[in-house]
Amino acid sequence: MGQVDGKVAIVTGGASGIGAASAAILAREGAKVVVTDIDVSGGTAVAARIANAGGEAVFLEQDVTDEARWEEVVAETERRFGRLDVLHSNAGIARRCLLVETPLEDWRRVQAINLEGVFLSLKHAIPAMRRAGAGSIIITSSIAGIFGTPLNAAYCATKGAVRLLAKSAAAECAVLGDSIRINTIHPGVIDTPLWTKFGGEVPGLPEQLAEAWALLGRPGTADEVAAAVLFLASDASRYMTASELVIDGGLTGGRIRPPRPETSPKAQPA
Ligand SMILES: NC(=O)c1ccc[n+]([C@@H]2O[C@H](COP(=O)([O-])OP(=O)(O)OC[C@H]3O[C@@H](n4cnc5c(N)ncnc54)[C@H](O)[C@@H]3O)[C@@H](O)[C@H]2O)c1
Repeated sequence: MGQVDGKVAIVTGGASGIGAASAAILAREGAKVVVTDIDVSGGTAVAARIANAGGEAVFLEQDVTDEARWEEVVAETERRFGRLDVLHSNAGIARRCLLVETPLEDWRRVQAINLEGVFLSLKHAIPAMRRAGAGSIIITSSIAGIFGTPLNAAYCATKGAVRLLAKSAAAECAVLGDSIRINTIHPGVIDTPLWTKFGGEVPGLPEQLAEAWALLGRPGTADEVAAAVLFLASDASRYMTASELVIDGGLTGGRIRPPRPETSPKAQPA
């Protein structure tokens, strides 16, 4: 029996990276998955890979900034699969730019996808989960929603905002008596195509950052983040709402990687 057997899930930004891994693990653990993205070929390939592995998935083209399309995606999910139990609101973009050089248009694009897209996802998924009787929503924030990083102002602003948007929405659902849990995940440096777009001009940037900052000394994988999504989607996390799960190899908790064994104090003669 899978950990999310019989549940119906929507995963946004599901064509690539963390979203693709999340769609795959949810399907492997028994969910029917609606993969959505603006990337049609990538999203179609993810749904096909899930089907080839014996899972159930469908791809729907979706720009998360388009409210009318949110109505259609939720309606189509209920039409095909009868209900909506899980939403992984994950689509996001990053732009590496000095704050004083950030064009307003770029700032607005990052807000539109990373923040307004999440707002629209909540606005349209919550009523469907009420109809289903319960639900779990997982929002992909970031360690950049916990502390500030340079060349990243627009992104940090959105990732911090969705952290509290999730808590507010979770509180509202609780007050209204809904069995809908809403939590954020905060990945650290994760090896996905996002880094090509964010810092592609700096070779090995994710490896450099992880080596310098993460206690575990390496970037994480999309699968390692998806494992946390599965936990929050499943009933194993039933006592968690308005919470934050950090998956960052110890980057925020420790900040300074321990010395290598050969330079460790324990290796020095007494
Ligand atoms: N990779 C990391 O180190 C890292 C760390 C922390 C948080 N995150 C967050 O994880 C999430 C997934 O990122 P990823 O690393 O897998 O990157 P990715 O670039 O591999 O995937 C992002 C996906 O979002 C899609 N997308 C972009 N704009 C969209 C729109 N308007 N509507 C629908 N889909 C859209 C893209 O087509 C892509 O498939 C993002 O929210 C990102 O901010 C990533």
